[in-house]
Amino acid sequence: MLIAHLSDLHLSAGPPETAPVRPDVAWIVPLVVADILSLPRLPDVVVVTGDVADGGSDADYALVREVLSPLPVPVLVVPGNHDRRRPMRAAFPQGWAHPEFLLSETVIGRTRFIGLDSQLPGRVEGSLCRERLDWLEERLADPTPAVVLLHHPPFPSGNRDWDATALIEGRGRLEAILRAAPGPLRLLCGHVHQCYHTVWAGRYAAVGGSPAFQYALDFEPEGEPPLTDGPVIYSLHHLHSDGVAVHPRAVPVPPRPDL
Ligand SMILES: [Fe+2]
Repeated sequence: MLIAHLSDLHLSAGPPETAPVRPDVAWIVPLVVADILSLPRLPDVVVVTGDVADGGSDADYALVREVLSPLPVPVLVVPGNHDRRRPMRAAFPQGWAHPEFLLSETVIGRTRFIGLDSQLPGRVEGSLCRERLDWLEERLADPTPAVVLLHHPPFPSGNRDWDATALIEGRGRLEAILRAAPGPLRLLCGHVHQCYHTVWAGRYAAVGGSPAFQYALDFEPEGEPPLTDGPVIYSLHHLHSDGVAVHPRAVPVPPRPDL
């Protein structure tokens, strides 16, 4: 099983709503798609952990589908704080499991991909209510390998400002559910626009990089790090017969015209 994890595309048919989004993002995401297509082996699945669109209009999601259409493999998405549930549900018919929340469970090979919806409409922060966590707990009672997809990271980043806008509700129970789950699982997130990896709740966990804008390395405990126009980072997770390897990919992109 080979999984390509990217996040936070922030594509928009009109001018971006979010200030740091590269104005040329619709030309940057195809460079990442081209890199995936150039791999010695195509991934079995591409996962995008939220903020797929920047404004969340029907036209935004049409653009997302167009930009990702060269990928001849399943593409799984979860909503971020910039997405809108109704148009996203229509644009990505990936077997949504709930009439309101964009929850999904997709089996590819012998791995289950469990998509969570951490939206708190109108807010940057994320939440997992009891209903969503009950659903997750039921899914994870099955011991077959699972990959949990979630936009807002529940684990600390080392920056208090980022963590204050991450998953602010449901974190404690999510940790208990992941710890108690009987099968192997990993947690893939987005939201932070910087690719990093950790262990949380006893599980491998990661944040995916973003083609829309990325923050430079900065280990200050507070404040927003400076933007960088360095290469776009995404990760390849190779689940093989002897274990797991995570390979970072760095995609060269043109300098930002606005930095
Ligand atoms: Fe984002």
